[in-house]
Amino acid sequence: MNRRNFLYSFSFTAAAIIIGGCDKDSKNNGDTAGKLNESQKLPSKLSKNETDDMFKPFTQELKIPKEINFETIAKGKFNAQKSLVAIYKDKKTEVLTFQGDLPNPTIRIKKGDKFELDFTNSLEKATIIHWHGLIVPEEMDGHPKDAISTQETKEYRYKINQKAGTFWYHTHPHGRTGEEIYYGLSGLYIVEDEDEKKLNLPSGEFELPLIIQDRRFDKKANLIYKETELDHNGVLGDVVLVNSTPFPYKNVKNTKYRLRILNSSSARTYRLAFEGIESFTLIGTDGGLLEKPITVKDIVIAVAERIDIIIDLKDKKIGDTITLKTLGFKEASNFATNEKYPSLGAKMDIIKFKVTQLSTNNSAQLPRKLSSILKMKESDASKTRTITMEIIEGGIWTLNKKPYDMERIDERVKLGSTEIWEIKNTAHMAHPFHIHGVHFQVLDRTSKIDFPTDKGWKDTVLVMPVETVRIIMKFTMPGLFIFHCHILEHEDHAMMANFLVE
Ligand code: C2O
Ligand code: CU
Ligand code: CU
Repeated sequence: MNRRNFLYSFSFTAAAIIIGGCDKDSKNNGDTAGKLNESQKLPSKLSKNETDDMFKPFTQELKIPKEINFETIAKGKFNAQKSLVAIYKDKKTEVLTFQGDLPNPTIRIKKGDKFELDFTNSLEKATIIHWHGLIVPEEMDGHPKDAISTQETKEYRYKINQKAGTFWYHTHPHGRTGEEIYYGLSGLYIVEDEDEKKLNLPSGEFELPLIIQDRRFDKKANLIYKETELDHNGVLGDVVLVNSTPFPYKNVKNTKYRLRILNSSSARTYRLAFEGIESFTLIGTDGGLLEKPITVKDIVIAVAERIDIIIDLKDKKIGDTITLKTLGFKEASNFATNEKYPSLGAKMDIIKFKVTQLSTNNSAQLPRKLSSILKMKESDASKTRTITMEIIEGGIWTLNKKPYDMERIDERVKLGSTEIWEIKNTAHMAHPFHIHGVHFQVLDRTSKIDFPTDKGWKDTVLVMPVETVRIIMKFTMPGLFIFHCHILEHEDHAMMANFLVE
């Protein structure tokens, strides 16, 4: 890994954007330079020891988000705010949080229950929270048009009407989603139900959320966002945070663990595998449990996707270690990225599990059937639409060649209808396609790559370079929603569209 190189070669070809000075349009943003802090203006070399100490992998224990459990509380409170948080040990990093600390809390709620949360915006600019993967009424969904101004409060109230699954939340302001998530404004959102309870999947200390985000830091532990033009293709970092902990370790017992993994990076696609175990079991995707567990050796997870997996450590002894890493996924792009940071093809370590205790109960079997997924039939679709993913003149990422316009309705869909959408990628770069207000199934894709996640319910699907993916979905929620590429710099860069279900 080249993070030491990056530190030594840090330079300012373009203003690094830090909290507050962050309009993409730097024309009307004359104060950006004033917001650069000393370390960014005057890069100087670090002693080797200092660097090593700061970035040394597997020295910090994995943080576990605290939970807002709607079984025990009636209403949550979020306040988007600037905070100082210790990401590198005692060094304070300026970030954005919902409750003053990172990782942000995990929301846990049961199907049928009511979600109530008051959200106050204490940022300098308008923002809004979106509940990614939840099917909720238009006014609750967090469309960028519903952004609330600074010091305003929005009351979220809706009922959970969907099956158990791993979802997430993040802010979604027009043109600034990438930056806000980068600085901290996202978290996990778990829905439970009775059917899933009966399966007796690993729970409590044996259920671990892993929120993966690659980030860039300067040597004072400040986050660095966009630096060069190339970053408009996607910001890639060299430090992998899991639950806001850089390259953490986690002590475990020799038994089964359920890992709920969210990729909330800006642009990086990971091909996850474990050193120390040959294979693991995929049990769920974006929209909840699969029908049957699938055994895999590695798995691709694009931005915004979730995977629910079981790892079995029963053959491990005290002292054994298991490392989760990415094998790299260079297939995702031929585009140049900022050279100072590992490319999409780079192998990187992520988290190390250390067996420190033996388990008294490590023989429980996984159920063979997890849920039933009614396969949607092509013949039920009343319409087929084509959405193209294209880069247009000026290097602008778009859908159907039209840069996003918040006021324009791009597609009109009949409430209750089933449609097939052909997502056609014309570029030599993969894009994770995401749609609000609906879950879909993947019908087929033109590339030969086998994505086991295609077998489950999805809200985000990776469309490979010059590939067409066909998805099928039924629109049950009326209102105005969006679909977009979930590479954050692409969605901010106009790769988004409105659709109206009526
Ligand atoms: Cu994660 Cu528009 O969504
Ligand atoms: Cu979403
Ligand atoms: Cu994209």
